[in-house]
Amino acid sequence: MSDVLFFNGRWTTTEERVLGVEDRGFQFGDAVYEVFKFLGKRPILAVDHFHRLERGLREIEIGNPWNEAGFTRTVDELLDRTQFDEGIVYAQVSRGEGERAHFYPDNMAPTVLMYSRRFRFPDETKKEHGIRVITTTDLRWKQCQVKSVNLLANALAKKRAQRAGADEALLVGEGEVREGASSSFFVVCGGKLITHPLDEHILPGVVRDRVIGLAIAAKIRVDERPLRETELFDLDEAFITSTTMGVMPVAEIDGRVIGNSRRGEITTRLQRLFDDLERSEIAQQRSGATV
Ligand code: PDD
Repeated sequence: MSDVLFFNGRWTTTEERVLGVEDRGFQFGDAVYEVFKFLGKRPILAVDHFHRLERGLREIEIGNPWNEAGFTRTVDELLDRTQFDEGIVYAQVSRGEGERAHFYPDNMAPTVLMYSRRFRFPDETKKEHGIRVITTTDLRWKQCQVKSVNLLANALAKKRAQRAGADEALLVGEGEVREGASSSFFVVCGGKLITHPLDEHILPGVVRDRVIGLAIAAKIRVDERPLRETELFDLDEAFITSTTMGVMPVAEIDGRVIGNSRRGEITTRLQRLFDDLERSEIAQQRSGATV
């Protein structure tokens, strides 16, 4: 099925083969991307995603083709042109297209694209029962704060999880649990929330950031510190967060059941608070307020 596509300033559909074979995003993974959600044709936390895109582009020295207003305009037009109400938006900016060479010329014209796609978000049953995860070695590069399209290590970890009958892989490096292959990771221990601090080992998840804010506002203690792999044996609750999964309980890690095999109390609270935050973002946009 073809989807609406914004490509280098014009509108087309994903049926058109727009990308050149010598685009650096394709050949070198020389690109960053974002994925955000829309509900009722309204983008969720799109500005947070824009800011992360901007930081990533700055770190790899690609000029941002969008300012915040331009980004918002492109998103709004994309969703106006989209035929369905719910899904995800994928945005990507690569360094551009040019004769294949490791040395790249300065000031290449970036390749810019954004498209919308249908997506089935987890239903209530899934949100209650949660997911299974496995642990696996973190084989990614050392700049994981950049949301680059170099996702080979993530995809291989995810495939391992799938083969083991799980939904997500927790990436472990130097004995520390960093994050999921496509999600942030939290545990609850003695009433306290623990998650990896922001550094080069993890992506600064948009949902992670909001969930920490919600937890603090709800007077839940938050400890941003690396979690030893051995601590996975003694947890009360665990959950992952991401744009597509929201707050999703982890029911099993490497086949071991977490907590008392039911969705934990703090996980449930944060899941509801985050769902409310998404709903209030839509309501605010409908009422014309700035968010
Ligand atoms: N993945 N960590 C990694 C490695 C991720 O790829 C993602 C998101 C997250 C969660 O980030 P956020 O809360 O901003 O969605 C953490 C997206 C959904 C993807 O690649 O499809």
